[in-house]
This record gives sequence, structure tokens and C-alpha cells, in this order.
Amino acid sequence: MAGPLGVDGPGPPRPPRHLLPPAAQLDRSARDGLLLPFVVDVDGRLVGQVQLFDVLGGARSSGLAGYWLDERATGHGYATWAVALLLDHALGPVGLHRVEVAIRPENEASLAVAARLRLPEEGLRRGFMHVDGRWADHRGFAVVAEDLGPGGYADGGLVGMLRREHGPASTTRNLRDTPPA
Ligand SMILES: CC(C)(COP(=O)(O)OP(=O)(O)OC[C@H]1O[C@@H](n2cnc3c(N)ncnc32)[C@H](O)[C@@H]1OP(=O)(O)O)[C@@H](O)C(=O)NCCC(=O)NCCS
Repeated sequence: MAGPLGVDGPGPPRPPRHLLPPAAQLDRSARDGLLLPFVVDVDGRLVGQVQLFDVLGGARSSGLAGYWLDERATGHGYATWAVALLLDHALGPVGLHRVEVAIRPENEASLAVAARLRLPEEGLRRGFMHVDGRWADHRGFAVVAEDLGPGGYADGGLVGMLRREHGPASTTRNLRDTPPA
């Protein structure tokens, strides 16, 4: 059975528990510094998750971002802003140097999130992850800490960049509309 991201693992189906670790397991991984799990909360309602997986320290100091929203919560920019917050947090206070985002070429909604955040694209990652029953190629994007520093494309952070371009997060205007002057 696939989780909300469709990630399922090869071989015979495994219990959903394997794919969606219980809170205690997430807590333990988070305490061990292997995972940064967050929920997307809108007015007290859990509508999705953003997480940093595969957190590595030392010379790698990196992680892989994942995110999903309840279908009923899409179309408001929640994912864009939540991923911006996650990346700023990971590359700022957490002190990682690089965060990757891997997206299947057919996942237009997720590619649009990457586009709104202007994530630099690095190329195709062949057979990157087992999703929906097959090893799926993914388009690879990555942000490094320097991108958020002086001279970087998102100097001051991705949330700041979104605010400059589109106004505050509470603005629910469609971003296809003309941005305010
Ligand atoms: C990927 C996923 C999270 C994207 O959700 P989404 O709602 O399209 O993305 P956002 O929450 O950023 O919303 C963007 C939409 O809100 C609009 N919007 C409105 N106000 C906005 C604001 N203040 N800021 C940003 N966007 C805003 C945007 O214009 C955009 O609308 P559009 O789709 O008509 O162009 C969702 O499709 C999902 O959960 N998919 C399944 C799991 C998955 O694929 N995860 C990613 C794996 S790589």
C-alpha cells in the first residue's frame, strides 16, 4: 500500500505502518537527528506534512524534502509556503548545507511548487525512488545554504523571497494573477 506520496517500496506489500511510521517512531528519528517532521496546520486543522528525510551530517550536511497536502487543502499556496519554511529552517537554524527535492516529471503540481520557489534544477535522477509500483525517474532540484545568503537567488531566505514577490502568506490571491505593484 502506498503512503500519501505514493512511495511504496519494492517487493510484496508491507503493512502501512512501514510507510507511515507511528508518531513515536517519528519522534525517535527526529530525536536522533535523522528526520525533521512537520505538519501543515491551517487554523488548527492538520492538512498536510513537510518533512526532511535522510538527514546527513558532517561533510554532507544535507537532507531530502518531502511534502503532501490533503486534496481539499490544495490550491491555496500552503505547500509552497510550508516548503519555503522547511528549507529556510534546514539551511538556517539547523545548519545543513544542502537540501534536495526530487519530483517525478509528471507531477505538475509539485513541479509548480519548485517553480514558485525557483529551486535550481540539477538534472534527472534515474530510478530515484520506488513510487506507485515502479522505480521512477525524478527531476532533481537542490538548494544550498549560499542560495539564501548574500548574492544568492533567495538572499534572506525563501519565505522572504515569497513575501517580496507575492505578499504575505495569508494572501490567498491566485499567483497567476498580476502581483501587486
Ligand atoms: C504537491 C502538492 C503538495 C501541491 O499542492 P498545491 O496546493 O498545488 O500547492 P500549493 O499549496 O503551493 O498551492 C499552489 C496554488 O495555490 C495558489 N495560491 C493562492 N495563494 C497563494 C499564495 N499566497 N502563495 C502561493 N500560492 C498561492 C497558487 O497560485 C497555486 O494555484 P494553481 O494550482 O491554480 O496554480 C499536492 O499536489 C500534493 O499533495 N500532491 C501529492 C503528494 C506529492 O506529490 N508530493 C510531492 C512529492 S515531490
